[in-house]
Amino acid sequence: MLASVLVLPFLPHLVAAFSWQFQNAPRQCQNVSIQLQGAGQPPYSILIVPFGPSPLANNKEVRKILNIPFNGSSANFPLNYPANSQFVAVVSDSSSFGSGGTSIAAQVLSSDNAGCYDPNAESGPDFVFNIDPPNQIVQCSPSRLWWDNSTVQGTPQFLGVIPGGQSFTIQQSPLSNVPNEGTGFSWTPSIIGGTTVIIVAGDNRSPGNGGSFFNVVSPGTSPTSSCLNGMSPSSTPGSPAGGSYPTSSTGAGTGGGGGSVDIGAIVGGTVGGLVAIAALLFFLAFLRRRDRLRSGKSPIDLVNDDEEDERPARQNELPPFYHPEPFIVPDPSAVSSSQGRQTPSQDGTRPMSMLTTTDPLTSSGFRSPTPDANGSTTTRKSAAGPRALRPINIVQHDDAGPSEADQDAEPETIELPPAYTNIRKPAQP
Ligand SMILES: *[C@@H]1O[C@H](CO)[C@@H](O)[C@H](O)[C@H]1NC(C)=O
Repeated sequence: MLASVLVLPFLPHLVAAFSWQFQNAPRQCQNVSIQLQGAGQPPYSILIVPFGPSPLANNKEVRKILNIPFNGSSANFPLNYPANSQFVAVVSDSSSFGSGGTSIAAQVLSSDNAGCYDPNAESGPDFVFNIDPPNQIVQCSPSRLWWDNSTVQGTPQFLGVIPGGQSFTIQQSPLSNVPNEGTGFSWTPSIIGGTTVIIVAGDNRSPGNGGSFFNVVSPGTSPTSSCLNGMSPSSTPGSPAGGSYPTSSTGAGTGGGGGSVDIGAIVGGTVGGLVAIAALLFFLAFLRRRDRLRSGKSPIDLVNDDEEDERPARQNELPPFYHPEPFIVPDPSAVSSSQGRQTPSQDGTRPMSMLTTTDPLTSSGFRSPTPDANGSTTTRKSAAGPRALRPINIVQHDDAGPSEADQDAEPETIELPPAYTNIRKPAQP
């Protein structure tokens, strides 16, 4: 008994009896067809809820919530929404609302037909509903949904539509009449904060004829999760319902359709993240080495590991790699002993040298795979630099800095080292 009680509530989630897919990209004033897969219990219905602002002038809203009932395993219906608008689609069978799954916001593409809507005729709902406290839904905190009873037919029904998630029917507690708050009921949303939910109201005339209210559930000032459980509707991970369809005007979409843009963005983000991580790791490794060199000059295994990793690739290039460190560390001592001019600028030189030395580290680090651009330049100058004298390392910093062109501090680093070189050059010859 206990097991069944525990398991049964999860069955509706686990057993998705059927799924559905768009058969074509939704286009302005053209038919949309969807196909069901799996065993649902007819009759079915698809609810189309406008999402986001209206693309028309003055935000004229001509999109009405559509509810299309159908019995077979497919549906074909006209979409009288303007291009560049969005909607969320919920497919249900007779078992429960949202049983077939909810899409994320789908994009309406353009077409040569704009005759299905009047851009000057705003379409209001048949009745309006209100939420108190207004304009918010708070996790596990009761709200009152109410309406003017003279404007509805029958008792309104409220649906919670979660894009890409588990949509649900809002269970009504006993109705009450409150002065200035009409007829309504108290609803405690067992929805975790941060979830996007669109509340859709409808009465006996049609589901959705009372309009919709878009909201991101607030966790509340003192969040309580007492109402949350395994049944709590939320955005479900994984691919959203609806198959493959466009979700933005660029043609990017879900699934395989227009995925190239998404893939490019993902790859770019991933590579960027890896580069950033690599830069951070190199910087940390540099700091470690520097600390070790300061404390005890005996290199430890880790240093050897680092060297072993990089030696085979660039034995010739490594010397510059090392030189910056001893040069930086002894700055105060060596500089004071060798040159008096640098001591006054210690405060400035230290952080600057830090930055510049990390620059070649990072650049050599993640640009080794792409030796075309900077690998050659840095190696050349490094090869020429290390042999001569330490000051020449500073010259490397100059060259390495501007090549990256990413960091703001480079201009400063550029300015200082030239000063050294200028000093050195006249001094040496
Ligand atoms: C569009 O859908 C409507 C309603 O199902 C149907 O009557 C009409 O034949 C469809 N038009 C096309 C071109 O498929």
